[in-house]
Amino acid sequence: MHIRPFDFSNADYQAYVAVREATHPEAPLDIAQLQHTDRTRSKEGVMERFLLEWGEQVVGVMEFATPYYDPKPGALEVRYHLRPEAQSLEDAVWAFLMEQLASHTPKELLAQVREDWPEYRFLLAQGFAEVERRWESVLDLHGFDPSPFELPLPAGITLRPLSELPWQEKGFQRALYTLETNLLRDVPSAEPINLWPFEVWQDRTLNDPNLLPEGYFLAMENQQMVGVTMLFKSKRPQTLRTGLTGVIRSHRRRGLALALKLRAIEFARSYGIRYVRTSNHQTNRPILALNEALGFAKEPATVLLRLSPVPQRPG
Ligand SMILES: CC(C)(COP(=O)(O)OP(=O)(O)OC[C@H]1O[C@@H](n2cnc3c(N)ncnc32)[C@H](O)[C@@H]1OP(=O)(O)O)[C@@H](O)C(=O)NCCC(=O)NCCS
Repeated sequence: MHIRPFDFSNADYQAYVAVREATHPEAPLDIAQLQHTDRTRSKEGVMERFLLEWGEQVVGVMEFATPYYDPKPGALEVRYHLRPEAQSLEDAVWAFLMEQLASHTPKELLAQVREDWPEYRFLLAQGFAEVERRWESVLDLHGFDPSPFELPLPAGITLRPLSELPWQEKGFQRALYTLETNLLRDVPSAEPINLWPFEVWQDRTLNDPNLLPEGYFLAMENQQMVGVTMLFKSKRPQTLRTGLTGVIRSHRRRGLALALKLRAIEFARSYGIRYVRTSNHQTNRPILALNEALGFAKEPATVLLRLSPVPQRPG
């Protein structure tokens, strides 16, 4: 067994993705997405990644980094995946990670794992506790009938894809950023979310290799953006992935989120897609009620885990 730093070459990215595919085939990673995430990480943040080799084969990946989505000061997000034949090395890999991250003196470690993964049980045994749970769910468009849901849009509202709007103009981007950050503040979550500054949002979202301007819909009232839903490309076959869906407070309970979702589903169909995926906090009853009504089927939960305080390693 040999551990070496990840060298950020294409070969190492391929090895990373192959380990993940062997470990969790139900949750494949997309190289372009992973590279985009790494490229748009904060330059001041921590990011250390390693590969575990057994002979010639890469059998594990492990990393710790400043959380990408919610960069809380003093927090590091840890992640590791081991191919089934290397699963018995969990203790050794964990000891290595703890030793490597000790010099950063984190106040807390975070991890996001599915409840049916071996990592979930292992991290609980290390003292991690649950912070919150999200459900991934999927809608199979074969046999989906939109007609029971279809209603006329409220007067004065239109639904427009980003591709028909001046989304490359800074003024438009600022308005979209304001809409999305305001909506994110309303997403129920265990702790307040640290919102990204405009430039970070701009680079991470609008330069995302999976961005689909034709599948990113805004509800407009005159020139004002009042709601949004967005589909991104996905590594999974015949699949598009939903990003944020939201409607400003003054316009809620008028069927706008439903209309946006139906418009996105219609786009997915015309794009030749069979599955639409989404991920929602288990405490977010409004969006869960909407997705359940549409027929989204839930998968095992993804759990956010936290270890705090972080035990000091001897020596
Ligand atoms: C969730 C959200 C998008 C719903 O938008 P909306 O335009 O008010 O939703 P709609 O009017 O289209 O409602 C459609 C259905 O969703 C369900 N629903 C919507 N809001 C609900 C609420 N507050 N409580 C329970 N069910 C709700 C209902 O089944 C509703 O149908 P009904 O009004 O006939 O009962 C909106 O509350 C929001 O923006 N929340 C903050 C952002 C967020 O959490 N987004 C989801 C994370 S991705």
